[in-house]
Amino acid sequence: MKTFPFIFNEPRQFLSSLQGKEWADFLLGEINPRFSVTAIKAKVVAVREETADAKTIVLKPNWLWKGFRSGQHVPVTVEIAGRRVTRFYSLSSRPDDKLLSITVKRQKGGLVSNFINTNIKKGDVLELGEATGEFVLPKTLPSKFLFLAGGSGITPIHSILKQLEANQFKGKATLLYFVRSFEDIILRSSLEEIAKSTGWLEIKYIFSDVPKEGYDSGFLTKEILQKYAEDLKSYSVYVCGPAPMQTKALSLLEGNEIKSELFLLPGQTSLKVKKTGTVDVFLSLSHKTIQVKGERSLLEELEDQGIYPQSGCRMGICHTCVCKKAVGSVTDLSNGEVSELGEENIQICVSRAESNLELEL
Ligand code: FES
Repeated sequence: MKTFPFIFNEPRQFLSSLQGKEWADFLLGEINPRFSVTAIKAKVVAVREETADAKTIVLKPNWLWKGFRSGQHVPVTVEIAGRRVTRFYSLSSRPDDKLLSITVKRQKGGLVSNFINTNIKKGDVLELGEATGEFVLPKTLPSKFLFLAGGSGITPIHSILKQLEANQFKGKATLLYFVRSFEDIILRSSLEEIAKSTGWLEIKYIFSDVPKEGYDSGFLTKEILQKYAEDLKSYSVYVCGPAPMQTKALSLLEGNEIKSELFLLPGQTSLKVKKTGTVDVFLSLSHKTIQVKGERSLLEELEDQGIYPQSGCRMGICHTCVCKKAVGSVTDLSNGEVSELGEENIQICVSRAESNLELEL
């Protein structure tokens, strides 16, 4: 609160009064790259190797960071070859921790995940956005949780488990973690520590590629669920993993209360359709017509041709990529629905061209 013109009670107030002024950001950035009045910037204070292809990045954010709820994700922007690129990552830490962390696994063709794993080091500064997402705990906790994690889908679940631990949860939780091999288990020591110190968490690893004696192998099936979660209907279920696992979980757990977070890997769509030929996409704002094959998402097919519309999560969550479709039909890759031909807003990261299109881009 101002007590006198130009006199501010706190430096933070003074800095807020400068909002929108690029010069202030520039000057502050010169003092410390984490300082900003407009952007949430976070300094990398540690990088921890979780597996051969996954790292936890521990971050100290600036004063613009408003916090998060366990299970939420955050947009992370990095500059790669002079281009700013944003991707969403789930926070793996607990909201009350002084520092926050994201755990990022390399993905085949994953521009940002590979960049983070290869290049990010202690002392670097990343730009974040606000945390969002509904994959969070309810106000009143149920007595039984079933967590189904696939690969790097463990990260928001780890944050939720840490939160339950801090809340001194008194119920029971079962984690079925589907992962390629024992060596690919992300955050293993932390998960096992929670199980050991609390007593309410049972962890079962299920290996899809490299079986290990004493462990289950394969994918999510009715039998696995029945084996580890008796009286299935009594569980509150949280699912986070790749699309095929989500689809399977939703079909096996019909009737359960389910929260799910979808991880689409780069180039992966929930529907695989082989098409032939191309369709025309007219981009009305840039007065350009391009041809796409309609085999992958519009976002990916545009990027293949050097056109980079705004995007964030690339999995249909954040709505950053929404644009108006004036004419034509698309398939929504998240549910397989084919749209009408008329005008509507579409998320191009989860829309595949079905016919010639006109997009407001
Ligand atoms: S990029 Fe997030 S919804 Fe499309």
